[in-house]
Order: sequence, then structure tokens, then C-alpha cells
Amino acid sequence: MNSADSAPLELSYDFALDRDCKTLSRHVLEHLQSFGPEAQDMSALMTRIGLAGKLIARRLSKAGLVAGALGFTGEINVQGEAVKQMDFYANEVFIATFKQSGLVCRLASEEMEKPYYIPENCPIGRYTLLYDPIDGSSNVDVNLNVGSIFSIRQQVGNDPDQTGEDLLQNGHQQVAAGYILYGPSTVLVYSIGRGVHVFILDPSLGEFILAIENLKIPQHGPVYSVNEGNFWQWEEALRDFTRYVHRHEGYTARYSGALVGDLHRILFQGGVFIYPGTIKNPNGKLRLLYESAPLAYLVEQAGGRASTGQRPLLDVVPDHIHARTPLIIGSPEDVALMESFIEDRTRQAEEEFALKP
Ligand code: AHG
Ligand code: MN
Ligand code: MN
Repeated sequence: MNSADSAPLELSYDFALDRDCKTLSRHVLEHLQSFGPEAQDMSALMTRIGLAGKLIARRLSKAGLVAGALGFTGEINVQGEAVKQMDFYANEVFIATFKQSGLVCRLASEEMEKPYYIPENCPIGRYTLLYDPIDGSSNVDVNLNVGSIFSIRQQVGNDPDQTGEDLLQNGHQQVAAGYILYGPSTVLVYSIGRGVHVFILDPSLGEFILAIENLKIPQHGPVYSVNEGNFWQWEEALRDFTRYVHRHEGYTARYSGALVGDLHRILFQGGVFIYPGTIKNPNGKLRLLYESAPLAYLVEQAGGRASTGQRPLLDVVPDHIHARTPLIIGSPEDVALMESFIEDRTRQAEEEFALKP
């Protein structure tokens, strides 16, 4: 037996804490290989996102013990959805956190009809933050995982009439994106266009610490994640896909009701998440600017793919800030499999159309 084998448990724990603890701000600066103004901005932005994540995680960890964490506010948001207390709180947390940043002049979120302007930051603030404060909020009251999704875009022009029209651009314009997953631990996953990096909140330090650098999604994986309760609301191509995975070995269904959690599993284990258009909602449910596009940016940075079924998700230009798109996202081979069923059905329809007298 060597000395490591016989080491008491406490010692190995101390040893883990002794490792090089790389914080979010340091990681951004090192990654950009610069201490210039752009790199400082990005580092400060990511630190602020981390702070918002810590505040939200803190309240979630006490949900049921403190007021304002469980249940609904009684309001209906711009999406027509009942607002939960945590949706409201988390939305306010992002505003409060970025009000003092000096970097962000405008925030757009699922919970606000129009962007929120911070006029005092506008002469200097050059970025817009787009975010889903709580993703999967139906999970809050049952103590299951939820997330926050964020996207940062460089501000184009001054937007003097406060229309936010310059935000109606494709997802390639994002300069950073990611999510925070509030699960057994709080995990922050981000990209600034140079790979995907995973940080875990160490509560004893109050810091997000680098856990995985340059995460790559598997080319193919076993997971398919889609709400099969909508089966009869789907296009035939998605029914073809589900019949295929039911009949072939090696697939397993996972669906948590929170996109962030489902996608996190797929990033690590491979597979595909699908939120399609339905008969009732032909563009599906997920919002482009602060749900689908940031996750598409992240997944592509990890070597995966994201599509609407018709074109790359990152190419879509929304016609308003809360626009929705169907989403097929995950491992390249599994996204391609779903697309192949769409192509088959499209070809069949074209052939039938051509045969019509
Ligand atoms: P949000 O809580 O931000 O409104 O998002 C919920 C989304 C997403 O997280 C999840 O994948 C999806 O809604 C679940 O919708 P269904 O219940 O229709 O499957
Ligand atoms: Mn959401
Ligand atoms: Mn939400």
C-alpha cells in the first residue's frame, strides 16, 4: 500500500482544495491573452453574470424557507405565461447586477415586453444582455433543476428611440453566451467564441471555479429529449424520428421540463434535444434571442449543431425580440438524423405535389 492509499479522507479533500483554483474573471483574461479594454470588459461582464448566478442560487437553495421563492406572482408576462416569484426575482437580480456594471446599457429578457434601458450607462455601455432569468420555472416548486440563459451582443448604434431594432440580427452576432444550471451544484457554462468552459460554484469560496476547459460534445449519444406528450401535435417527420429511436437499440428518453438541464446532459453524454413546431404553435415554444440562439452558439462551440429543421439556428433573424423558432440541438450525428427524416418527408410531399393532376 503506498502513502496515498493510506491517506485519511480529510487529507484528500484538502488536496482537492489545493489545486489551482481558476476563477471566471481570470479565465476570461487568460483566454483572451490580453489585459486590454475589450478583455477587461468581457471579464467584468462574466463576473457580473456569475454574481447574478450566485444570488439566484442562494435564493433557490432556501426556497420554501424564505418568502418570494415559491409560487406565482399573479402577473402574466408578455408571453402569456403566469409569472413565478422566482422569474420575477431573477429578472430583477440581473437588472440590479448590471445597473452598476457601467458596461451594459440595455437588457432584454423573457419577462419584459421591451428592453430595459440603463440611461446612466448608455454613454459608456456598449453591450446588451439578453437573458432568460429562470428557464424551466415549473420545476421551482418541486425542487428540481432550473437554469438561467444569457447572451451578450455588442450594441450597434445608440438606439435613440429605444426600439431595440438593432437586436433583430442573427445569432452569429453574439459575443458571449452560456447558462447557469442550478442543480445539486451550481454550474456555469460559457463561451466567448473560443470553446466551451465549465465552472462550478464552490460555496465555501463563493467563487465559480474552472472544472472543465474546452468541453466537446460527443459526435453521437444515446439521449433524445422531446416532450412526447405533444406527439399528435407534431409534423410527421418527428413522429418518424421517434418511431426510429423506439425501434433501435441504444437510445433513451430524458426530459426534465427545463431546457438548460436537458441540454447540459446532452453536452456531456451526447444526443439531441428537440422542441418542434406544433399545430397550435408552428414556431414551437422557445424564444430565439435569449433561449435558442445562446444555446446554439454554445453547442456549436462545443462541436455540436443547432437547426430549426430548415436552416442553421444561428442564421435566423427574428422579427421581434420575443420571436420563437423550432429547435433541434445537440450532437452532430443526432441532429443530422432528425434532419434526414425532415428531408425525406419534404421530398415525399414534393413528389406527391408533382404527381397531382
Ligand atoms: P421557461 O420556464 O423559461 O418558460 O422555459 C420553459 C421551456 C424549457 O425550459 C423547456 O424545455 C420547455 O419550456 C418545456 O415545455 P413543455 O412543457 O411544453 O414541454
Ligand atoms: Mn426558458
Ligand atoms: Mn424563463
